Amino acid sequence: MDDAGRFIAGLPKAELHIHIEGSLELRFGSIEALRAAYRFANLQDFLDLYYEGMRVLLHEQDFHDLAMAYFRKAAAQNVRHAEIFFDPQGHTGRGVGFKTVIDGLSRAQADAERQFGVTSALILCFLRHLDEADAERTLDAALPWRDRFIGVGLDSSEKGHPPSKFERVFARARGLGLHAVAHAGEEGPAEYVREALDLLKVERIDHGNRALDDAELILRLAREQVPLTVCPLSNLRLCVVPDLEDHPLRRMLRAGLVATINSDDPAYFGGYINENLAALSLGREEMMTVARNGFRAAFLDDATKERHLKVLDAYGLSGA
Ligand code: ADE
Ligand code: ZN
Repeated sequence: MDDAGRFIAGLPKAELHIHIEGSLELRFGSIEALRAAYRFANLQDFLDLYYEGMRVLLHEQDFHDLAMAYFRKAAAQNVRHAEIFFDPQGHTGRGVGFKTVIDGLSRAQADAERQFGVTSALILCFLRHLDEADAERTLDAALPWRDRFIGVGLDSSEKGHPPSKFERVFARARGLGLHAVAHAGEEGPAEYVREALDLLKVERIDHGNRALDDAELILRLAREQVPLTVCPLSNLRLCVVPDLEDHPLRRMLRAGLVATINSDDPAYFGGYINENLAALSLGREEMMTVARNGFRAAFLDDATKERHLKVLDAYGLSGA
């Protein structure tokens, strides 16, 4: 491992954009078969395989084991806190009950905190290719477990499914005291980022790359310090950026945006959080900024954030 690799490995991190179903390591007959299956032309191309992969998740234990495998990797990469997306409609639509999903994930969260000291929280994502009534029913089905998740998100096929489609269900979720985030500006236009802010009233934007197409929006994101959860290897693999040399994250940092680095779907895109951090060849100061942004943008109370930030700053000063 080189110097930068060692620095990244030891850096205390928060991960804020990880789909637990995207950490599912599928088995292929050969490495060539795997490589061929994981060559994606766009977001939909990936999602087709992602939803197919989920079909192996049937029992409470499957969801537990899936999450534990992620927590083990995350802990080994010095992730101290993770806010994890899950897609209940990907399971309830196949006849797997919400209770099965949430019980398995919650049990893994408790085990991970005890075994690895990694804290975590769950964010329930609505699938945007389905209609709002389906999202409303999903929120209804989740309410008996309201205390098990901290927020709602919006994911799946972005183009043609603007945030405006989900204005009512997000308003209801916020009324229940849930946090709100949404994928926006991954493949879709800057206008979807604006809609997510104005109509869904989200507190963070997942991805947000395309916001850079809009000078006024950049100024707003900087002024309001809206965190962006950026996923470099995902962007490369889904062909939403041409290459990593010119990845938008550097421009985001220069514009004063609260950009964070995350893995999205690590099993599919060739890396967990450390590989994503390493992929951009950032300097140490930039890496410290990104790591600080992760804790700042987390849905943690101020005292807990301060505790994490102190540990992080001590690490930065030690020059490890
Ligand atoms: N679901 C899982 N990963 C996703 C991504 N990168 N964009 C939208 N939906 C997703
Ligand atoms: Zn995502």
